[in-house]
Amino acid sequence: MTNNPAVNPKQQVAEQAANMVENGMIVGLGTGSTANLFIDALAQRSRQEELQLRVVASSVISHNRAIKAGLSVLSINQLSGLDMYVDGADEVSDDLSLLKGRGQDLVKEKLLARHADQFVVLVDESKQVRQIGEKHPIPVEVAPDCWQLVQAALQQQGGQGSLRPNAAGDNVFYSADGNLVLDMTFTDITLKNLNQLLSTLPGVVEHGIFYLLASEVLIGKAQGVIRLT
Ligand code: 5RP
Repeated sequence: MTNNPAVNPKQQVAEQAANMVENGMIVGLGTGSTANLFIDALAQRSRQEELQLRVVASSVISHNRAIKAGLSVLSINQLSGLDMYVDGADEVSDDLSLLKGRGQDLVKEKLLARHADQFVVLVDESKQVRQIGEKHPIPVEVAPDCWQLVQAALQQQGGQGSLRPNAAGDNVFYSADGNLVLDMTFTDITLKNLNQLLSTLPGVVEHGIFYLLASEVLIGKAQGVIRLT
């Protein structure tokens, strides 16, 4: 465990992950407050050590932040692979399963996580759970015309939930890819089976369970950083 109480836990994991990046890498940038800290830490290290890095972003926000920080940004459609993807998460369990997708960029987040040689997850200890789905519903991103059929199919499997509203609460929420999101809770189904169900149900574009994708999780705690592998 590394101990640096002077900085906050998210800052600590962001800096530790930035130090894991090697010269010449293509690095995927996640989305959220922790991913923002990583982008800044990576840009600072890249400037100081004159690293030759290229990055690719999972969202417009991360793309713009990376450009502003002086990083060299590629488009996803220029990639045939990437060395490392670094992102936050909403929930993490001890077996390195994750829940993501409280933001609007789930499709690109999972795409980059899946195609990276290493997927490094950055969280503080508030994100640790015994079971995925313990604190948040599972986001299920659906093509707009499909949501009722998907909802009905998931209800048949014991799921409960409805379309996510937008921030103002006066309309439905649309993802960055123009889809709707069903926020669903499930009981009596294992994470493995739920992942299989959501990954194969027609009409589902993507979902928030990141099963067997993370290479390691850095957890920022008051006493320092814990590394789960
Ligand atoms: C967005 C995500 C974020 O990574 C997750 O919400 C964590 O955010 P933060 O770093 O702000 O706590 O999955 O879809």
